[in-house]
Parts: sequence; C-alpha cells; structure tokens
Amino acid sequence: MPTQTFQLNGERVSVDVEDDVRLLWVLRDLLGVTGPKYGCGINVCKACTSHINGRAFNPCAVPVGELSADDEVTTIEGLPATAGADLHPMQEAWLNRDVAQCGYCQPGQIMAAVALVRKVQREGRAISDADLDGIRNICRCGTYTRIREAIREGEAAM
Ligand code: FES
Ligand code: FES
Repeated sequence: MPTQTFQLNGERVSVDVEDDVRLLWVLRDLLGVTGPKYGCGINVCKACTSHINGRAFNPCAVPVGELSADDEVTTIEGLPATAGADLHPMQEAWLNRDVAQCGYCQPGQIMAAVALVRKVQREGRAISDADLDGIRNICRCGTYTRIREAIREGEAAM
C-alpha cells in the first residue's frame, strides 16, 4: 500500500492508504481530524470545506494520492494557529454573533468565510453582497443571516 505524505495543520503527516481514497476519509477515519464534516461526499454541501495552500477546497472530492508532500492542508483545528491566536478572528466573530445552531455545517462555513476574505483582500477590495450570495455552503438550520453578519465582522478583524 502506498504511503501518502502531506502537511496537515502545520505538521508533516504520513499515512498508508491507497491513492484513490478521498482525503476527507483519510482525515476523519485514519488521522482522527473530524472538524471537516461529512455531509454529501460529492462536493455539493460544502460541509467538509478546508484549505489547501490557503485556499478553500473540499477534501471529499480529492483523492489523497493527488497531494504532494509540500501541500499544506488546514482544517478548522489548525485555523487559530494561522492567526497566532487561541481563536481565529472569524471564529471570534462567529461567537459574537452566536451563529451556530446545530453546528454541523459551521466548521465548513468558517473555513469558507476565511478563504473568501483572503481572496478579496488579495484582490484589494472588500466583500460584496454578490460574494456572500456566491457562498455555496448549505446550512439546514438556516443560519444564513447570522453567517453573513459574522463574515462582515470577521473581515473587519482580518
Ligand atoms: S461532504 Fe464534502 S462537499 Fe459535502
Ligand atoms: S447550524 Fe445546523 S446545519 Fe448549519
């Protein structure tokens, strides 16, 4: 069985697993990193949203064999360290706005929000309503209004 090596939340990890096993199952079932949630498994619900090399991606859709040893995967567990704090500013905003209801979609929502803010900041602009409309993370509890408020608050602190 091949050995897969990549960077995960600031540490190099190696795991023996076939190339075609998708990363979400490697993270959750083999490495015990359960922040990325399993919703659909087919890149639709976005509950598993994490970052690869600082940009949002969905590990349920990526075979682990496609990762290189230098690829840096960040899950919600590793997000605070990217800000050098106990909580990332977006997580602080989430708490301030009391966003979560059942909570299942929320790690993915926060990871998508952080990636969106980074993207617009790279473009030298602020988040627009159209950007917020473009977020595809599903929340069955319907917390969308609070999510939008929290993203704006988090953006101001990033
Ligand atoms: S579980 Fe990955 S997008 Fe739904
Ligand atoms: S808070 Fe329950 S699914 Fe979003």
